[in-house]
Amino acid sequence: MDLKSKIRVIEDFPEKGISFKDITTLTKDGEAFKETVDRIVADLKGRNIDYIAGPEARGFLLGAAVAYALGVGFIPVRKPGKLPGETASYEYELEYGNSKLEIHLDAIEKGKKVAIVDDLLATGGTVSSVVKLIESLGAEVVALEFLIELEFLKGRENIEGYHINSLVKYDR
Ligand code: PRP
Ligand code: MG
Repeated sequence: MDLKSKIRVIEDFPEKGISFKDITTLTKDGEAFKETVDRIVADLKGRNIDYIAGPEARGFLLGAAVAYALGVGFIPVRKPGKLPGETASYEYELEYGNSKLEIHLDAIEKGKKVAIVDDLLATGGTVSSVVKLIESLGAEVVALEFLIELEFLKGRENIEGYHINSLVKYDR
């Protein structure tokens, strides 16, 4: 299945010059959504994953489905002020704007193997901060999984040394 054909591109959102990749047209299509999850799951099979972690909000859409399919737990990495327990936080830059992410300090036990799932790899700022949060808990990040990679932003260069898998690539 051509997953790229299921993603809608909207120019100049949320700012002029940004070519926004809208995944709502993919997630509404049951077959495309299933194919997306199945392909990520296939890449993670055999890696002895203990948990899937996903950043709010779009990382929840795919990450929770992948965790369910693998039969492992899902760890939400959230925007500030949403998690009720003690948290670690990390501030980072986005393609547009700044943001901060938080994880519960007791979310993941030391030594556990974690795969991060998100919809999009752009600059790599989001996933790098999720990596740092997970590693700060003493857990091991074993794979980074994305539906989309914006190759022209060279996000991979910010996350060298990790297994990275992306299903659909864009050069603009
Ligand atoms: C988007 C996207 C990725 C991130 C990728 O999230 O869902 O998480 O940007 O960009 P980066 O590689 O440059 O960090 P965003 O924070 O815009 O919001 P959302 O997931 O809550 O919609
Ligand atoms: Mg996001």
